[in-house]
Amino acid sequence: MGLITLQEILKVEEGSAVAAVGTTDYLMAEAILSAAEEAGSPVIIMIGSLIHKPYAPYVIPAIAGRCRASTIPAALHLDHGTSIEAAERAIRYGCSSVMFDGSALPIDENIALTNRVVEFSRAAGVSVEAEIGHVSGPEGTTGKGMPDSAKYTRVEDAVRFADSTQIDALAVAFGTVHGLFREEPKLDFDRLEAISKAVDLPLVLHGSTGLPADDIRHTISLGVKKVNIFTGLMIAAGAAAGDMYNSGERRYPGLTQAAFAAAVGFVKEQLTICNTTGTV
Ligand code: 13P
Repeated sequence: MGLITLQEILKVEEGSAVAAVGTTDYLMAEAILSAAEEAGSPVIIMIGSLIHKPYAPYVIPAIAGRCRASTIPAALHLDHGTSIEAAERAIRYGCSSVMFDGSALPIDENIALTNRVVEFSRAAGVSVEAEIGHVSGPEGTTGKGMPDSAKYTRVEDAVRFADSTQIDALAVAFGTVHGLFREEPKLDFDRLEAISKAVDLPLVLHGSTGLPADDIRHTISLGVKKVNIFTGLMIAAGAAAGDMYNSGERRYPGLTQAAFAAAVGFVKEQLTICNTTGTV
């Protein structure tokens, strides 16, 4: 089935969403794909900080090659690209989808830059996700964040953004944070529902780490089609490597194997929450 675009992969049954899982290297990408292949589920692999590493020109094409060879549908997506140049590079290295994150910019500027990204991405057959409102938080770390309700997505902004761009998916803010929550999450489901009714686009949930599975399922029932997860995976894999070290293992392959196995288990759980296990 192999590498497909975000626009194609998000066409899943009502009541389902596609898990979009972040990686920092090749091995974690392999774990994510292995989990999806074992589960018989589509999956989106997201690269974030990897795009800025000196080895990006070698590792990202390798991940794209692995996606092309996969037995399940897979999309390779740049997460939170904040510059035109990062999006261009991601496409050159083989991504089938890019996020342009102009959520910190005034809306007019966000629309203008998003449209530039859409133009060259379309020409390359690549999908585009953008964000309106802003999901903050200490992604990928063990720091704890709080959502800022002043930055939640306004329905009228989502409508204007959707009408002024030709994006394939829209990331919205309604109470999640990237990374761990400082307090129990309280999502604004009414806002999500209103956006979903007003905008004819697949919606993206950023900041799944720390959310109860039932909350994630509820967002899916309200129109979320892409569920982003990263920090929880990093912590689960790191903890497994730490446990292995504490049990006396001192060799690098022994530690990475433990992290790999934990990552496969973690991703399978996310696929089940997203309701795509056994669908391909
Ligand atoms: P978490 O790190 O909270 O899982 O969020 C990931 C994310 O939304 C990436 O864009």
